[in-house]
Amino acid sequence: MKVQVILGSTREGRFSEKPGGWIVDELKKRDGIEAEVLDLRDYPMPFFNEPVSPSVITEPYKNEAVQRWTRKIDEGDGYVIIAPEYNHGYPAVLKNALDYTYKSWNRKAVGFVGYGSAMGARSIEQLRLVVAELQMVSVRQSVLIPGAVYMEAKNASSDGAVKTAFEPVSEQAKTMIDQLLWWAGALKNAREQTS
Ligand SMILES: Cc1cc2nc3c(=O)[nH]c(=O)nc-3n(C[C@H](O)[C@H](O)[C@H](O)COP(=O)(O)O)c2cc1C
Repeated sequence: MKVQVILGSTREGRFSEKPGGWIVDELKKRDGIEAEVLDLRDYPMPFFNEPVSPSVITEPYKNEAVQRWTRKIDEGDGYVIIAPEYNHGYPAVLKNALDYTYKSWNRKAVGFVGYGSAMGARSIEQLRLVVAELQMVSVRQSVLIPGAVYMEAKNASSDGAVKTAFEPVSEQAKTMIDQLLWWAGALKNAREQTS
């Protein structure tokens, strides 16, 4: 099974790559799981401005980054979205990436890692509404990073120190990954049997 970890922020000095790198390493420890980080900086897509909705598209959009993004999302069986909180929501660059394709997300599982003053909970709850429309299953357990953990991980200068910083939320991560892999496997089987 393939799990893709999507960094929800592209800004200079972002935090998202710290939890993203940690979670992808935790996923790679699981048997039979291929995991990778998807960095939206590598997919510089314009703000969505297409005449046809992705749910009824008959030909791929022409933009090269959009085509690469769509093909990459097609490969995933499950996703972890690293969700910063911007003004009690999630970043626009992440919404744009979610909007650009539809069928690639359908009948797949997603989990969340959040951070911010309310540990990203508001951002994650908004994302749950969006992924429901994309016909995804969002798992119950999220990883909610408290401020002190955020600060320690932000200032950590090695992968080992980052992992140590995230230790207080490692049980949350384990449960989120357990739930994600269960749903991703169940949905992969169901897609293969019914499509
Ligand atoms: C535009 C903007 C709005 C923000 N709004 C909130 C907010 O509403 N609540 C919150 O807890 N943090 C807020 N923050 C702080 C971010 O959660 C924090 O900077 C975090 O590191 C952003 O994720 P990133 O570093 O991966 O981009 C905001 C940050 C930015 C840049």
